[in-house]
Amino acid sequence: MSNLISSNFPSLRLRRGRSSPWIRNLLTENRLTTNDLIWPIFICDGENKKEEISSMPNIYRYSIDRLTEISETADNLGINLIALFPYTPDEKKTDSAEESINSKNLVCRALNKIKQQNNNFGVMCDIALDPYTSHGHDGLMNNEGEILNDETNSLLAKQALLFAEHGADIIAPSDMMDGRIGIIRNSLEENKFHNTIILSYAAKFASKMYSPFREAVGSSSNLKSDKKTYQMNIANSNEALREVEMDIKEGADIVMVKPGISYLDIISKIKSEFNFPTFAYQVSGEYSMIKAAANKEYINEDEIVFEQLTSFKRAGADAILTYFAPQVANKLRSGS
Ligand code: PBG
Repeated sequence: MSNLISSNFPSLRLRRGRSSPWIRNLLTENRLTTNDLIWPIFICDGENKKEEISSMPNIYRYSIDRLTEISETADNLGINLIALFPYTPDEKKTDSAEESINSKNLVCRALNKIKQQNNNFGVMCDIALDPYTSHGHDGLMNNEGEILNDETNSLLAKQALLFAEHGADIIAPSDMMDGRIGIIRNSLEENKFHNTIILSYAAKFASKMYSPFREAVGSSSNLKSDKKTYQMNIANSNEALREVEMDIKEGADIVMVKPGISYLDIISKIKSEFNFPTFAYQVSGEYSMIKAAANKEYINEDEIVFEQLTSFKRAGADAILTYFAPQVANKLRSGS
């Protein structure tokens, strides 16, 4: 490219394009809109409950009856997709995660409730066992503490089918077992769920940034070991491309990178390699870090959130899961 451009300073002055707001507006390459936002929601048992999560200021767990509040907000703001995450009470957690395939579990009850209403947004459900296991891992564990791949896959396929039957629009396996996308896709096809979308957490890293989330879903105190035998090594990027390729071949419609802001290189590589729908997850730790710094007035929260979410777009993300979704949608609507 540089060979074609012969002129240089002073005929070339890049600051001309930054000299006033109108020209900056015209030359903006990537724009964040409400269409880019996906809103994660924590749900819990009980009635008329809205409990704040201590490590995530201003983020709550809602009981099912209060989900109308969420639906109305999502529809009013024009948010396209919400993602459900259950806080399973400890007494329902077991080593073999039976609650994950109970048709009366929190996610199924939430789907029943939300799908009764005429909403404009889609609903995405995580597929993994960690909200339901007594050991807090995403898969089944043997006596030696090993996470069992194929046995877990059979259960994940049942969970995916159950959520599809209850109206989940997007099935999002977040467990990182090998081969689960293919097994889930086959099971959905065999059961005539031809239009259920699979969003694979394809490149999910063994990050330390999930700890506030683990508090939010109540798995942190149960978890006695890390997730490094299934979540990816944070140092790797070629492997992320192999994960994505595998999941695309097995039938994923969308792939996701997680966490977000430290992994923009991965999003960018996936986009240029595969040209495939690619989402990003700005995870709980990223949310809480921004909140904490803003609370101390070290940074301006709205400005930093806007900058980070725009950076996801610049890296190539098509949409972003973010706990800031309603706040940002509000700002975008008011034009500030
Ligand atoms: C569960 C799951 C996790 C997150 C989403 N789904 C936690 C984990 O893998 O331990 C993290 C989201 C966040 O930190 O916001 N498989």
